[in-house]
Formats: sequence, C-alpha cells, structure tokens
Amino acid sequence: MDHSNLNNKLHRVVSGTRTTGALHLGNYHGILKNWEKLQHNYQCFFFAADWHALTTEYEHPEHVAESTIEVILDLLGAGLDPKLCTLFVQSQVPQHAELHLLLSMLTPLSWLERVPTYKELRDNLKEKHLATYGFLGYPALQSADILIYKAEFVPVGEDQVSHLELTREIARHFNFLYRDRLSKPLFLEPQTLLTQTPKMPGLDGRKMSKSYHNTIGLREDPKSIEHKVKTMPTDPARVRRSDPGEPEKCPVWQFHKIYSPQETQEWVLTGCRTAGIGCLECKQPVLEAILKEREIVCEKAVPYQKDPSLVQDILTEGAKAARHVASETLDEVKETMGLLK
Ligand code: TRP
Ligand code: SF4
Repeated sequence: MDHSNLNNKLHRVVSGTRTTGALHLGNYHGILKNWEKLQHNYQCFFFAADWHALTTEYEHPEHVAESTIEVILDLLGAGLDPKLCTLFVQSQVPQHAELHLLLSMLTPLSWLERVPTYKELRDNLKEKHLATYGFLGYPALQSADILIYKAEFVPVGEDQVSHLELTREIARHFNFLYRDRLSKPLFLEPQTLLTQTPKMPGLDGRKMSKSYHNTIGLREDPKSIEHKVKTMPTDPARVRRSDPGEPEKCPVWQFHKIYSPQETQEWVLTGCRTAGIGCLECKQPVLEAILKEREIVCEKAVPYQKDPSLVQDILTEGAKAARHVASETLDEVKETMGLLK
C-alpha cells in the first residue's frame, strides 16, 4: 500500500479567491489547476473570499453575494472535490475575523502602508474610494485567513507574494511578542507556492485580468467566447491576407503556446511567417481548445447548478470543518493573550 499520500496529507495548504465576479481562464490556468492537483496530496482549505471582495465592492454587496455562488460553481467545475478538500465561504467562518481583529492590535500601520498592492490599487481605482480602514487591512485579513489554519503552503499567483511576506512578518511578530507566554512558537511561517504554468495572456496580450477587460470566463457563453476570439487583435503587420506576420508579436500565438500541440504550433509559426494561413484560420484551433476546456468545466458544474441545495450542503459542511480547525487556533491565541474564555 502506498502511504505517501497519507503522509503528505499532514501538510496543510490554504488559499482563497476573491468573489468579484465569475472566474476566468487566467484564474483557471494560474491558480485553480494547481489547487486541483494539491487536493490529492495535501490537507487543503480553499475558500471564496467574500470579505476581501467587499473591501473594494462594498458599494455593491449584491454583486459579491451573486459572485460567491458563481465562484463556488467555478471551483467545483475546475475539479475541486469536497471529499478531498475543505471548500467554504470566508464569511461563514467568523474565526477569521476574530483573529484579524487580534492581529490588527499588533500590526504596525507602516507594514500595511508599504504593501505595494495597497497604494497601487488605491491610486488606480480612484472612483472606488479605497481610502478605507478595511482596504488598508486587506493583507492583514489575508494573514489571518492563512495563520488560522497554521498552513505551511499557500498556492497563489505572483501578485500575492508581498501579502505572504507580511503574513510571515505578523506570524514572527506574534511569536516573538508573546515568547514568554509560549512554550513554542504558535504560528508557522507559511511558504508561497507559485504556479508553474506560464502566465495566461489576455485577449490583448497583456496579463489576463478583470481590470484590463481582456478576460474569457471559465464558463462563459460559447457564442461570446467565439466572438471574443474572432475579434482578438493579431500582428498589426498582417494588414492583408498576403502580408506575412510574426507570431511573437501576436497574442493569438500566446494562446497557441498554452493550448496547442507541437504540430499545430509549427503550422502557426510557418504559416504566419509565410502568409500561408490567414488569422481566422489560425485562431480556429485555439477557439476549439478553449471551448473544449469550457465543456469539461461546465459538465462538472452542471449538477450543482441544477440543484443549489447540493452547493448549500457542501458549503455548510465545509464551513463546519473549517470552523473546527480555526477555533482551535483561535483558542490558543486567546489563551496566549490572556483573554477570558
Ligand atoms: N488576496 C487573494 C487574491 O486576490 C485572495 C485571498 C484572500 C487569499 N485570502 C487569502 C489567497 C488567503 C491566499 C490565502 O487572490
Ligand atoms: Fe497571429 Fe496567427 Fe495571424 Fe500570425 S497568423 S498574426 S500568429 S493570428
């Protein structure tokens, strides 16, 4: 019998995704495929971060509520299996908030102010009024999400690296501050697990991201996917069908690198450079691959979509399991800080 699986399941992994809308192919290739793999070998806690969504969407909480269910369907479609991992909604595990509050007591303001995503987003999204208490605390809440499970690994994209650094700093600070009250450090310093897959480009060749409006939804309507792919920009040198082009200057080629087998890739390289193929022809295999991927995801999501009570049951069970682990850590924290039980 193979025991490696059992042994590995001792190691804890935690990660979350904001519920600001249905997930897209960038989320899928950059994060969810990794989560799907990890659930087989690690004790995984994966959640829909609806509080984190509210830090920027507080003016439209109804969008967050809708998105939360969509995101859960996306996660199930991406192959997360509630039998293999703990799947839940952040706001249904209030222990995260309580730990966030306690950690906020000992987190210097300057640590939060210097997180690069803070100033960047606050200045880029001026219309959203992000000079709020909650938004500044975003990465402290994220630290609580992670530390409360004493997770060793956190699978995220590169944009989250600074949040993980802060998480380790807060963990170290707590362990040091209360060293005389602790027989051993209470919090682990979690490691970042970056996804190996190449960065998913968006329709315009920049990174796929909601704020660039260049996404394809994971379960988007096929007609809409077709329209988006067919109108994708290509190498501007190919004005006429007879003009040769350079794949390296074309976002479609970035998609081929992710979706197409070697043979198709060679067909693109030669066909484009010799004007042997047209751009629409070139886009066809990409379109088919995306639609096939969508089909597989949708198929897994459909039973849950048809029967919302199934989703409710998964979330109820998930939150219960998460609360069980989270309250153990929270009790230790309260005891360390001498709070009454
Ligand atoms: N900030 C993360 C993102 O934008 C989402 C998130 C919230 C998260 N809490 C977390 C990720 C805890 C990992 C662990 O993607
Ligand atoms: Fe891009 Fe393909 Fe057109 Fe070349 S042939 S410019 S790679 S879409």
